[in-house]
Amino acid sequence: MKKKLYIGGEWKEAAEYAELFSPYSREKIAEIPQAAKHDIEEAIEAADSARAEMAALTAYERAAILEQLVSSFIERKEEAAHIISLESAKPLKYAMAEIDRTIETYKFAAEEAKRLTGEMIPMDAAKGGSGRLAYTLRQPIGVVAAITPFNFPQNLVAHKIGPAIAAGNTVVLKPASQTPLSAVFLAELLEQTDLPKGAFNLVTGGGRAVGDVLVESDKVEMITFTGSPAVGKGIRNKAGLKKVALELGSNAGLLVDEGADLNTVLEKAVLGAFSNQGQVCISLQRIYVMESLKEEFLSRFQAATQKLVIGDPFDPQSDLSAMISTQEQERAASWVQEAVDAGATLVAGGNVKDNVFQPTILADVAADSKVSCQEVFAPVVIVNGIESIEQGISEINNSVYGLQAGIFTNDIKTAFRASKELQVGGVLINDIPTFRVDQMPYGGVKESGNGKEGLKYAIEEMTEMKLVVWNQS
Ligand code: SIN
Repeated sequence: MKKKLYIGGEWKEAAEYAELFSPYSREKIAEIPQAAKHDIEEAIEAADSARAEMAALTAYERAAILEQLVSSFIERKEEAAHIISLESAKPLKYAMAEIDRTIETYKFAAEEAKRLTGEMIPMDAAKGGSGRLAYTLRQPIGVVAAITPFNFPQNLVAHKIGPAIAAGNTVVLKPASQTPLSAVFLAELLEQTDLPKGAFNLVTGGGRAVGDVLVESDKVEMITFTGSPAVGKGIRNKAGLKKVALELGSNAGLLVDEGADLNTVLEKAVLGAFSNQGQVCISLQRIYVMESLKEEFLSRFQAATQKLVIGDPFDPQSDLSAMISTQEQERAASWVQEAVDAGATLVAGGNVKDNVFQPTILADVAADSKVSCQEVFAPVVIVNGIESIEQGISEINNSVYGLQAGIFTNDIKTAFRASKELQVGGVLINDIPTFRVDQMPYGGVKESGNGKEGLKYAIEEMTEMKLVVWNQS
């Protein structure tokens, strides 16, 4: 029950502990060490001391460490999923799916470790460049601080630890305060690999103060953060000249054109809007459907939502369970009420039952209602009618965010137009925006962040390019 910090390859008690409760049952599930400033400094020091050893590993050795981790996850898959459901109330079937993805993420990291290379530069393409041979190297950036969210406590951690190890960096991980147990589990698995001591360090608890020590340390070369835009902006403001990769939120939108196959759209829309209780950065939050389809779409969407199995995350049938905290459920309810007060129609949900915020559909929502223009991060989706796809594109673009967007259309010209004009990091044609496989480039524009995840891209972010020029004359 009582967990420890993992620093310099050793498990270490903290001076203070906080109790951790299950978001669904509200039972106490663990006691979590609250890292103090000196613990975090010690973790940074350990990561800094391990830099040279880590950077000296061959690509083969880095890949082998990641492959060892993959094998351990495969062996202890059920246990890893169980921990996710316990600390985050993610329904078990989605927790199992997350571990499957985590395994793939580390596998891709192992493969990319072997592919990490620079390029030849054609120096004689410039008048003054002849007689020179040049190439680039990709070298590890150094100490990476990874600050991770609660919504995918293994896979979004894997998206930071995997590329960091593949690139030859050392890491200090600060997981979300509600989901430290998955990170402790990861530390246990990493301890059994050939990773040099100090290359991975785990500090839990301590809230914003822990993040600040990491962000302000001169020994940390890069911050990689997934979380809210407000915290992301704070990190950027304090990080000075450090490299900062930010994967922030969104209010992802979907366009449904005339002629779209509603069976497919609805099946995917239910998943996109409500899986993981809508607590996904690319959760389907705004649906813009051609006016001629709206009535049928809404009545079938409501019917499909009623079939969701709601309750205990450990029930293998459950599709939906509690949100991460009571405060978050209350916030979501108040945002729904604000939209209704402004004239929206409540088609389904909007209330909390047996500690679960019910899947909620709102129609005809004003663009300035919070459920439309901010990131709701709850099982809430809006459905508005549009007169044209052009109008829909402009509705989706009318957002401070831009992570991913989707469009269902049978018209190839419309699909090309949407892919060109939607202001987002990724456009999904004939799919929902809530789609991700782990090797694809993933990251947003505007307040959705900067930098790309996806192993190859994250490794690029976590390495420095060095130029070598040989003068042969
Ligand atoms: C996120 O919430 O940004 C991650 C979504 C995913 O990996 O599926």
